[in-house]
Amino acid sequence: MAFKERVFSGVQPTGNLHLGNYLGAITKFVALQERYDCIYCVVDLHAITVWQDPSELPRATREVTAAFLACGIDPKKQIIFNQSQVAEHAELAWVFNCVSRMGWLNRMTQFKEKAGKDRENASVGLYVYPNLMAADILVYRATHVPVGEDQKQHLELSRDIAQKFNNDFGASIKAHGYGEAFFPQPEPLIQGPATRVMSLRDGSKKMSKSEPSDYSRINLTDDADTIAQKIRKAKTDPEPLPGEEKDLQPRPEADNLVGIYAALKGSSKADVLREFGGGQFSTFKTALVDLSVAKLGPIGSEMKKLVQDPVYIDSVLADGSQRAQALAAETMKAVKDIVGFVRR
Ligand code: TRP
Repeated sequence: MAFKERVFSGVQPTGNLHLGNYLGAITKFVALQERYDCIYCVVDLHAITVWQDPSELPRATREVTAAFLACGIDPKKQIIFNQSQVAEHAELAWVFNCVSRMGWLNRMTQFKEKAGKDRENASVGLYVYPNLMAADILVYRATHVPVGEDQKQHLELSRDIAQKFNNDFGASIKAHGYGEAFFPQPEPLIQGPATRVMSLRDGSKKMSKSEPSDYSRINLTDDADTIAQKIRKAKTDPEPLPGEEKDLQPRPEADNLVGIYAALKGSSKADVLREFGGGQFSTFKTALVDLSVAKLGPIGSEMKKLVQDPVYIDSVLADGSQRAQALAAETMKAVKDIVGFVRR
């Protein structure tokens, strides 16, 4: 059976959004709306797998929503919503908790990293998080999922869960007239330069909201002066920029800045080096400041304007949640029949 093509992705409402989220995820989301029906979710149920301050979570949820809007996702044509408003995510996740295997979850590297040494004290939610992520995607029977490298393993798990569900319930799926397979095998969409934006202070670490120094990242709401200051202070080495991409390899900080420039400009690292190779680093940094301010400045000010209007943001989320729920409820009805739950 051919599944209708549909994109789903999620962003966690934790901390501030930064350039890494923008280049790694949100710009891709914007581009995909030209070709697909897209569902973009602020995944608050995922956020609480680690402690979130209840007085902070609503602000973070609205900020991610504002970023989606400010970057140009059309909330009328696509669906923008927050996960906790559509109970079917949690409902399907329970069924998937019973399909997924302990052995599969035990292999998840992100759990090992996030739980750290004190695994006994990690929440159970953090452990089963990949099952919820599978439910997010499959409750819409989505076929394409834009994700960063770090989520690839979770997406593979989603495919395993879809397949095991299809196999385990194969006879029932057929008996209820859903053909050979009820869930599609969702595919990752990973494209473009600078998908991995690194810290401005250490080119070997990912840009992250949890790094203590704010100088390590450019936040989407930073103003022009702050952006300029952060780029000027970004760590570099004393050499001028090379002419060829391979010479960037042993220079992670230079590589990162060139990658950011290329991604913001929509060109390639090779193009950037053709323009700036051989020149002083400071010349390149000035150009990077100008480009960053030109691209991010308007997004930051639009976001600030939007978060001043929570009534509007909440109405976008309410409308999106309603439309999402209509789709999710269809899937859950079928899942209940397939699993054998008596329903109204
Ligand atoms: N786990 C993802 C992250 O931390 C967020 C996420 C939750 C997601 N559900 C998803 C991404 C479904 C893609 C599809 O970045």
